[in-house]
Amino acid sequence: MQIGTPLSDSALRVMLLGSGELGKEVIISLQRLGVEVIAVDRYENAPGHQVAHRFHTLDMTDANALHNLVELESPHIIVPEIEAIATDELAKIEAANISEVIPTARAIQLTMNREGIRCLAAEELGLATSKYGFASTLDELIEVSKHTGFPCIVKPIMSSSGKGQSTAHNETELKACWDYAMSGGRVNHGRVILEEMIPFDYEITLLTVRSIGRDGEIETSFCEPIGHRQEKGDYVESWQPQAMSKIALEKSREIAKKITDNLGGRGLFGVEIFIKGDDAYFSEVSPRPHDTGMTTMATQFQNEFDLHARAILGLPVNTALHSVGASAVIYGKMDAKGISFSGLEQALADPDTDLRLFGKPEAFSRRRMGVALARANDTDTARQKAKKAADAISTQLFV
Ligand SMILES: Nc1ncnc2c1ncn2[C@@H]1O[C@H](COP(=O)(O)OP(=O)(O)O)[C@@H](O)[C@H]1O
Ligand SMILES: [Mg+2]
Repeated sequence: MQIGTPLSDSALRVMLLGSGELGKEVIISLQRLGVEVIAVDRYENAPGHQVAHRFHTLDMTDANALHNLVELESPHIIVPEIEAIATDELAKIEAANISEVIPTARAIQLTMNREGIRCLAAEELGLATSKYGFASTLDELIEVSKHTGFPCIVKPIMSSSGKGQSTAHNETELKACWDYAMSGGRVNHGRVILEEMIPFDYEITLLTVRSIGRDGEIETSFCEPIGHRQEKGDYVESWQPQAMSKIALEKSREIAKKITDNLGGRGLFGVEIFIKGDDAYFSEVSPRPHDTGMTTMATQFQNEFDLHARAILGLPVNTALHSVGASAVIYGKMDAKGISFSGLEQALADPDTDLRLFGKPEAFSRRRMGVALARANDTDTARQKAKKAADAISTQLFV
């Protein structure tokens, strides 16, 4: 592996497709290793735009626009950070050896669509999952519910952050769920997955890294499991490590190994797993850093973004924990542009707390604008500290 000098002929150029808070941290990790980074997002002044060598504002679902941009910048490596991308174009770019796609174009294609990844996990790899089925009409949905039973969750096959998801407790409620899913999908394909509701004890993200080991072969390493709490399908707090039985942890690692082996390539993956007793159910996987993994900025020698950067570059990784910690989300609490944040002194008064403000140009009341981080001797205390720090931050209109 060689890394040249940024902004010179020898530069190693990496292009981030999607430059939100997770992309921003990946860019910082790459910048630290002397990589030339090009940040792309659909809106101007996105968090990652603010820390890259160059940035572009582009609709990444537009295959032509993406093609032209890759031609212009000729990145050695393309790192997708979001799901809404013209993935067929990525596959063409990969096949023509124009740029390497992280982890692979196929992994990006499979994971952007709940149908692709669920069928792979459950039917090809035989992983335990919730009962499920797919539907393109309300009648089909009602039919599928006979298999999943109630309560069950309806999700557009193309959606993220809980968008368009709702729960049905009986057949009558399915119509409202169907209508909601049709209005909420990122790219409206008019198709949904219906999943049996798993009454899990807790859910985890198992960050799994495929990197090049000492012998030059791909090796898989796991971070300590991250516990998290979701509200309306969106993460509000996470902590690490989540206490687990030995059997549940072994099963989780087995699931994560099987799915990431199949997806292939190099990089970090966020494998979402539901735990009930000693049983582990595969839920979904992100072929990139995970929002709940922001807690690793407080807990690991190499956080999930450093790990992704190293794995991408073919460098050795270390997934060890140095502290127990937690993260808590800071919301916009208002709909406005160019807002201000105060209460920072109080939030950081405890020496074991830290803060990230993402720099998003526009706030919405439930938009994630930052995250509070905390370390402690145990996860309960770390969660309390992170929450206290997040609560100390207030947002104001700038006048
Ligand atoms: N089958 C299920 N059983 C129980 N809870 C679920 C199920 N599916 C989703 N959830 C809950 O909703 C959250 C978001 O669902 P997920 O499929 O991860 O959607 P997204 O892609 O938007 O993150 C999960 O983290 C979990 O808390
Ligand atoms: Mg999820």
